[in-house]
Amino acid sequence: MFPEHRPRRLRTTPAMRRLVSETTLRPRQLILPMFVAEAADEPKPIASMPGVVQHTRDSLRKAAVDAVRAGVGGLMLFGVPATRDAIGSGGTDENGILNVALRDLRAELGDETVLMADTCLDEFTDHGHCGVLDANGEVDNDATLQRYAEMALAQADAGAHLLGPSGMMDGQVGAIRAALDDAGHTGTGILAYSAKFASAFYGPFREAVDSQLTGDRKTYQQDPGNVREALREIELDLAEGADAIMIKPALAYLDVVRAAAQMSPVPVAAYNISGEYAMVEAAAANGWLDRERTILEVLTSIRRAGADMILTYWAAEAARLLD
Ligand code: PBG
Repeated sequence: MFPEHRPRRLRTTPAMRRLVSETTLRPRQLILPMFVAEAADEPKPIASMPGVVQHTRDSLRKAAVDAVRAGVGGLMLFGVPATRDAIGSGGTDENGILNVALRDLRAELGDETVLMADTCLDEFTDHGHCGVLDANGEVDNDATLQRYAEMALAQADAGAHLLGPSGMMDGQVGAIRAALDDAGHTGTGILAYSAKFASAFYGPFREAVDSQLTGDRKTYQQDPGNVREALREIELDLAEGADAIMIKPALAYLDVVRAAAQMSPVPVAAYNISGEYAMVEAAAANGWLDRERTILEVLTSIRRAGADMILTYWAAEAARLLD
């Protein structure tokens, strides 16, 4: 007559549910991506990402300290330059906005947090691609590696603890590792964007960095259908010296996060990207879902899939909610 098995017994009270909870979500596992703009006199809201701004150097410093005090595990910095050119000079210039801001934050926070930088040219190029172009207008893989090596050195000199090459060029981890080691930066690590898919969910980010891109990134970012290829990219990055790997985006790629977590000998990060953020914020603004519950559920699902750390624009807020 009666059910022999009653799983509901373990759900009866909050204390019981807490006791049997399988997945942890802690502030230290969250990394806050931040934007800093060269031209800004005041923080500039990003319309498609309510609550996220292009910072000034000053407001960045304050927001970074606040996030670190809230307990986040690290900060990932993106620069928005005032001027752009074909080779992305602003990314390698020691006085370029990203390098200046890294220096600011390292001076302010020292080793109190893990400071990361986007090691990619797209924010700095006038054509918006992640690399330099050849005579035919195609992204030139090997010429780009040279630029990434220079960019990595500038960022390491400026105080970044971890570099995040996000351009999906072949050999980028190896090229950056060799450049860092040659210059004596053996202690600077690489968080490799190993499996980065050509995703429509990057839409709001393009506004966030005033992207100049026309067309797409399909010759370097991966096809959304490919998981075997993602595992190959991870293996190559590991062989080239990645200290941690990343899957990006997160939500539509949780199976890839899971597959990566099962085979990776190094920590796995997942990037809860701009479009994932915008979807939830837009629905919440319409009163269509409970914003805070949704944020924690999204982040828990990425942890459950196997990510050790999550880059998320909600990092500081979620850290406070979890406290
Ligand atoms: C490229 C880069 C992108 C993002 C992070 N690094 C954009 C792209 O590949 O087009 C997207 C992050 C997000 O959407 O939140 N430097």
